[in-house]
Amino acid sequence: MGTYLASVIDFNQGTMTMPMAKPTVAVIVGSNRRDSLNRRLAHALVRLGADKLDATFVRIDDLPMFNQDLEGNLPGEVVRYKAELARADGVLIVTPEHDRSIPAVLKNAVDWGARPYGKNVWAGKPGFITGTSPGAIGTALAQQHLRAVMTGLGMILLGGEAYITFKPDLLDAQGHIADETTKKFLQGFLDRFAALVATLAAKEPALT
Ligand code: FNR
Repeated sequence: MGTYLASVIDFNQGTMTMPMAKPTVAVIVGSNRRDSLNRRLAHALVRLGADKLDATFVRIDDLPMFNQDLEGNLPGEVVRYKAELARADGVLIVTPEHDRSIPAVLKNAVDWGARPYGKNVWAGKPGFITGTSPGAIGTALAQQHLRAVMTGLGMILLGGEAYITFKPDLLDAQGHIADETTKKFLQGFLDRFAALVATLAAKEPALT
């Protein structure tokens, strides 16, 4: 887990502000598609939070299909994946909706994160769930299902609803959120998420 240190140290000469380590966030995209719209949105969101959060994308497309028989000797990809999540202060999940629910590749990753018993990396971790689809409800049902699952696993989820309908002009040529209203809406989520992650990172010992 990252550290979030006090920013002010008193020296003989006076008070000096030290640079703070930004809280770290693991980013999971719930799509294994090469040109994923959700991956593009995730990169745009990371940019919106870049001044307050250090984000790292975590791969899920190389994880084997969950099988309890593998729990005794975890595959290397699973070990790597769980370690990346464990050291992050928070998790951003940007997901499509598949058949009105959580895409299989993401549910597989969620299950690996929760297992083996006693090694649940989600517990106490602040999370922000969002996602986009060209459909009118913008992944609302996938997000609802995922919220129920992650809350059950002990994640502390950011409140509010960010269902993003993907339109061709959502992002500009550089991958930034193009529409000002949508940008402001999402900036509010990133700001609140950064505050939640920083607060919980500072209080980490009390949570675990
Ligand atoms: C979809 N799509 C879709 N869209 C939606 O709004 N609600 C849904 O239930 C579904 N179901 C669904 C199932 C399957 C198997 C596929 C492949 C697609 C369409 C989906 O939103 C679209 O393909 C997005 O582009 C998927 O996001 P990524 O992969 O581009 O990030």
